[in-house]
Amino acid sequence: MSGTGQLRQNRPLTIFLNNMDKRPILFLDSGIGGIPYCRYFHSQNPAESLLYIADRAHFPYGKREKNDLVLILKSLFERLIMAEDPKLAVLACNTATVSALDELRATFPCLPFVGTVPAVKPAVMESKKKLAGVLGTARTIEDPYIAELAAKYGNGCKIMGLAAPELVEFVEHRINRACENEKREMVRKYIDQFRAAGADALVLGCTHFLFLLEEFRIEAAPLIHVYDSIEGISSRIESILDADGGALRADGSVSGKNQFFVTGENQIEDSWRQWAGELGFSLSRFGDKT
Ligand code: DGL
Repeated sequence: MSGTGQLRQNRPLTIFLNNMDKRPILFLDSGIGGIPYCRYFHSQNPAESLLYIADRAHFPYGKREKNDLVLILKSLFERLIMAEDPKLAVLACNTATVSALDELRATFPCLPFVGTVPAVKPAVMESKKKLAGVLGTARTIEDPYIAELAAKYGNGCKIMGLAAPELVEFVEHRINRACENEKREMVRKYIDQFRAAGADALVLGCTHFLFLLEEFRIEAAPLIHVYDSIEGISSRIESILDADGGALRADGSVSGKNQFFVTGENQIEDSWRQWAGELGFSLSRFGDKT
């Protein structure tokens, strides 16, 4: 049996005796995209220890093949589980979720995973014009999962998918320095295309775009409603922690210990210090061996 297996075999006894679980909850994205999810969850659940991991060694995920991503994520999770023993993992990344969630669940059955998928369901259910836009990475937009969701819940609503790799790069590299006009201009290009096609719903299907949520809402109003998944994901995590009398909950009387990891061998950039500092998390590099 692997070291991870031995660790997990001993775990339930500890939980039973203390009725609290101090292990971290892991939030993963290719870069800063998962931060809005992590920040929101943290604001609601300060006692939980969180570990944010930015897999910058493999950024951007959206340009990779599905199989490539599955291998990258399996290898990364194997090392994260061995090193950090998380109690729950959040794929705060739509691309990682549509590409690898099933394989990760099958490979690591002891670790509960929460995935982030574009909020297609409410958008197609509420679209009066029967056309909902989805903005994401190429990998997400091309994945059959999006069309399957629309077919399942859409009641005839069509999906217009647009890949926006340059918007991912913009958020990852420039969001801290960009002025409001620049942000609005970046967003407007996409809104114009959805509006011209007659869409009245727009799903932000890439976590990076949450950094531009306000700009999207302003540019899309009043005809296009913008959907995101931040609160839905947070509630899903909470419901897993609260199951079985809160078996996975941390002790509410003390604050969690929070860390921010960046993968890759490059020197840690100042911007990462800023992101980690804003969250109040300690920053370090996580070794990359793929
Ligand atoms: N933030 C990611 C998502 O939600 C992907 C960005 C990337 O291409 O790495 O899809």
